[in-house]
Amino acid sequence: MTDLAGRRAFVGGGANGIGASVVRRLVADGAQVFIADRDVLAAEALAQEVGASSACIDLSDYDQVKAFAGQPFDILVNCAGVDQHAFFTHTSVEEWNRLMAVNLYSVLNTTHLLLPAMQAGGHGRIVNIASEAGRMGSRGGAVYAASKGAVIAFTRSIARESARYGVTANVITPGPIDTPLLRQAVAEGGDRLLDAMCSSTLVGRLGTPDEVAAAVSFLVSREAAYITGEVLGVSGGMGCGQ
Ligand SMILES: NC(=O)c1ccc[n+]([C@@H]2O[C@H](COP(=O)([O-])OP(=O)(O)OC[C@H]3O[C@@H](n4cnc5c(N)ncnc54)[C@H](O)[C@@H]3O)[C@@H](O)[C@H]2O)c1
Repeated sequence: MTDLAGRRAFVGGGANGIGASVVRRLVADGAQVFIADRDVLAAEALAQEVGASSACIDLSDYDQVKAFAGQPFDILVNCAGVDQHAFFTHTSVEEWNRLMAVNLYSVLNTTHLLLPAMQAGGHGRIVNIASEAGRMGSRGGAVYAASKGAVIAFTRSIARESARYGVTANVITPGPIDTPLLRQAVAEGGDRLLDAMCSSTLVGRLGTPDEVAAAVSFLVSREAAYITGEVLGVSGGMGCGQ
């Protein structure tokens, strides 16, 4: 178990799926956790269950994030994301904007508002949840992949700008993880999509949100001080060699 006693963590998109596992894990590690999510009911229920705090925030809206960014945080984990399955020529500008707003702008917003206090304090850990699609591309997910590729490049840039302040920034690229987001995609695409997802990994199965949370727990630990600007696949080997 990682020792995060005394650390304050902001988990964006922490109410469900991977984010909820990250919240549970960081609380278990001893951190004081703040859940920022637009799903207010799930956020409040989880906060009450584990002893965290929460607020209803649309993370794609800079001003809404700003209202909660007054307090300093040591740890920022960005998990909020939305997906969409359609060939690019069948998508609309409105859909691109929605994906980019949640998947990329939420990361820009939280980083812009929380990083200055980390830099001033001489310590910080940022972990952004991207996707293997951001490294490999995705048939039926071109804009999603573009948004996640942008998160990877952004995180590496923040790592370059922030190392001198004792702040690390890393990316986790999950493969298919069994969450509500994935189940929604499978409901639309059927069992064949689920089979294709499993066989796209080397280990032949879906991952669990807890497996992603374990990697987050390590990357935000004191022991990970010498790891920054990295992309860690938690994807059953899907992105191996990328
Ligand atoms: N599940 C997978 O297979 C998988 C694979 C690769 C990457 N990812 C990425 O992991 C992250 C988490 O995915 P998940 O599967 O847990 O999804 P999820 O849908 O289960 O959870 C996403 C959470 O983000 C919140 N959220 C969405 N938009 C928001 C907004 N604008 N403001 C605040 N909160 C918002 C939702 O309310 C939800 O609580 C996402 O970034 C996703 O792209 C997931």
